[in-house]
Amino acid sequence: MAVLEIRKYPEKILREKTAPVRDFNSALQRLIDDMIETMYAAPGVGLAANQVGVSKQVLVIDVSSREEQYPLIVIANPTITSKEGEIANEEGCLSVPGYTTVLKRAEKVRVAGLDRAGKSIEIEGEGLLSRALQHEIDHLNGILLIDRIGRLKKELFKKRFSLAGKK
Ligand code: CO
Repeated sequence: MAVLEIRKYPEKILREKTAPVRDFNSALQRLIDDMIETMYAAPGVGLAANQVGVSKQVLVIDVSSREEQYPLIVIANPTITSKEGEIANEEGCLSVPGYTTVLKRAEKVRVAGLDRAGKSIEIEGEGLLSRALQHEIDHLNGILLIDRIGRLKKELFKKRFSLAGKK
């Protein structure tokens, strides 16, 4: 296993829609293991494949450090099949380091997809798991948390980002 480099905003790969996984081969197994190791090393509670430079629909999530009832989750080709409620909470992203914002997300989601062997799975989550699922699925669609904030917040983010870049 290896810790991979996490791609950061404004890298283009983070904005591209990822491709569905068709082949659950050993290269995919290695990618998943490396993504898990990279997530734990960061440390973070979730990671999408395009954040490590692979434009495929794979994500890993482990919120057990904060909500211990949930195990490590690996999903390929995920889709949200139902959403319930709405809740605002603080959110950050390993690809946008040093930035957190309060975002509204569905309180509860159901996600259908495939496990690492290519078998159909369904996951239901609330709390941090629900938020992480929505955040990582956004990544797979080329969407970052800064795309979900209001215009004024985005102006402030851009100003701060460009100032940080000049240091
Ligand atoms: Co993220």
